[in-house]
Formats: sequence, structure tokens, C-alpha cells
Amino acid sequence: MHPPASHRMAYEAFVQALQPLSLAPLWTEYHRLLTPAPQGKARPHLWRYAELRPQLLRAGELVSTREAERRVLMLLNPGLEGQIAITPTLFAGMQLLLPGEVARVHRHSPAALRIIVEGKGAYTTVDGQRCFMEPGDLILTPAWSWHDHGNPGNEPVIWLDGLDLPLIQTLNVVFTEHPTQAQQQARLPDDLSLRLYQQPGLRPPAPDTGPASPLLSYKWQRTAAALAALPAEAASPYDDLLLEYTNPHTGGPVLPTMGCTAQLLRPGVQTQAHRHASSSVYLVVQGRGYSVIDGRRYDWEAGDVFVIPSWAYHEHANASPHEAAALISFTDAPLIRSLGLYREEAHPGGHQPLA
Ligand SMILES: [Fe+2]
Ligand SMILES: [Fe+2]
Repeated sequence: MHPPASHRMAYEAFVQALQPLSLAPLWTEYHRLLTPAPQGKARPHLWRYAELRPQLLRAGELVSTREAERRVLMLLNPGLEGQIAITPTLFAGMQLLLPGEVARVHRHSPAALRIIVEGKGAYTTVDGQRCFMEPGDLILTPAWSWHDHGNPGNEPVIWLDGLDLPLIQTLNVVFTEHPTQAQQQARLPDDLSLRLYQQPGLRPPAPDTGPASPLLSYKWQRTAAALAALPAEAASPYDDLLLEYTNPHTGGPVLPTMGCTAQLLRPGVQTQAHRHASSSVYLVVQGRGYSVIDGRRYDWEAGDVFVIPSWAYHEHANASPHEAAALISFTDAPLIRSLGLYREEAHPGGHQPLA
């Protein structure tokens, strides 16, 4: 039975009268808001290094670091139109620093991490400590730490920047400072934190550094050796051989808002599919393979970047029968876990049907 026309007209007039009062009925939006599972707009996507790299080098010809502040090509999620984000919480960009260049010092409340893609000889100075970059290294710049980049070497250096910028924007707590000088004094020994945390399981007396890791640099050489030394029994059905980068003082994630993992997919390995309530960005460090995300296959090779949105099923495969493939990822999982909202589930069929 339909309501009488008089009721319908009264209802429409009522709804129209709400708008100028900045009011709206919840009941028309209720099911759109409280969905049974995440319904985000972020989509899985892959950026090919073979396509990205020439554009970044072109930016190097056209834009100086002085003009740019940071010469970064942002990796924008095609599902998040109009937003500067790779997932609703994470930002990713590919940055180029040419020989002789500096990217001047600043600090901001969003935290950042770098995963080096190509080149060596450049450094990031973090609160007075230079951290030198080599391919596969992870370098942290925790929230509000002074940082600048320099390349005194003779080759272009390219790295993937990961930030929690969209999250910090949503929370409306973005703060930034630009001092007048171009670079900060390297007042501490180079790579000091690497020397303080040389030996896994041993650490100097706890500094009062807040929630971020006081170890600022994680060398790929050490990470690769640790992964290669893992026995087959350590393999996870969803990630094969995986290690999480940790804060050596807490054993927890490297940053309160972002965590990082490194993983080795052994030759021929195909993992099972699962999904979790966190989003991740992956950099392919070595090898070739593919990931199936939300039923679609994304083939990747070294330098490629791909994104897995929250609650999207995913599985990884190393197609090579001989060479191991290595991935480093950053994720908002620590944030989600700290709110008690993390959950994870296996795909009921083990693998996804391809769309
Ligand atoms: Fe920065
Ligand atoms: Fe996963």
C-alpha cells in the first residue's frame, strides 16, 4: 500500500526544509554507511617502473629540486579521483635526486619512509644523522623529524616514498616547518643508528624517542640475508617467507601509523589467497611474478609498485623456477591494529577465480 499523496508531499517538504538547517535524515544513508564489509573506492593498481622511470627522469630535466621542494611523481589510486592518496590512509610517490642535488630540510607531522629503488651514494639526513641509501634499503623519517636529502654521488638515485599523509589530513593535524637554511648539520656520526643496533637481540639503553623506531635505516643486504636464512618451515601460506621490520625497542612496527615487511617468494611458489582490514603498497625489489588481487592478475618485475586496498583478496606467485622474487611493502596495519579493528580471513577456495 502506498502512502497517500498528501503524506508524500509533506515528507518531501520536510526533507527540503532540513537542508538549509545543515540537517539530513540518517535513514536514507544508513545502509550506505554501515556496510557489512569495507566498501572503499580504492582499487588495486600496478605502476610499471618501465613506464614510470622515463617520466621521472624527464621531470629531472624540466624541474629542479629548488623549484620542486621534492621532485616526486605521486602514485594516485585511480579509484580515489580527486584525492592525493594511494589508499585512503597512505600516500606513495617516486622521488628522483640527481647527482649534486639537495632536497632542502623540512619537517612535518606526517611520517615518511623511503624504499630505495635505484642508485647509490645519496643520503637522507634525519635529525642530524645521515643515512646512506642503497637499493632495497628502508629509511625512516618519523613524524616531526627534520629531514633533507643529498646526492653527492655520481648517479641518479630513485626511491619510493611512503607517507601517512591522507590519514594525517583526515585527522586535520598536518603541521610543517621550513627553516631558512637548505640543509641541516650532520651533527651525529653517519648511519649511527645502524651501529647502535648492529646485532639483532642487543640494543643500547632505551632512548626517549616516542613511538617511532630509533633504528632509522634497514639495509637490504641484511634483510635479504635474514630472509634467505629462513627455513622452509617459517613459510606463511599467504606470503611465503616474510619478515616484519621492527622497532628494536618495542618489537612493534617501525612507525605508529605504518609498518613494513620484506618477503621472499621462493622459485615456483604460489601463495594462497586471503584478505585483511588494512591496505598495503608493494615495491618489487627483485625477480618477476604476479599477484592476483580481487580476481585480476597483475604481472610485476623489479621496480614495479602495486597497491592492495583494504579487504581485497590477494595472492602472490613467483613464476620463475630458478630465481627468488623479493617484495617490500608498507601498510597501515599498525594503525588499524592499535584501534582494535584489524581482521583477516582466508579465501574459502584457497585461490581466487580469475575475473
Ligand atoms: Fe618530507
Ligand atoms: Fe596479505
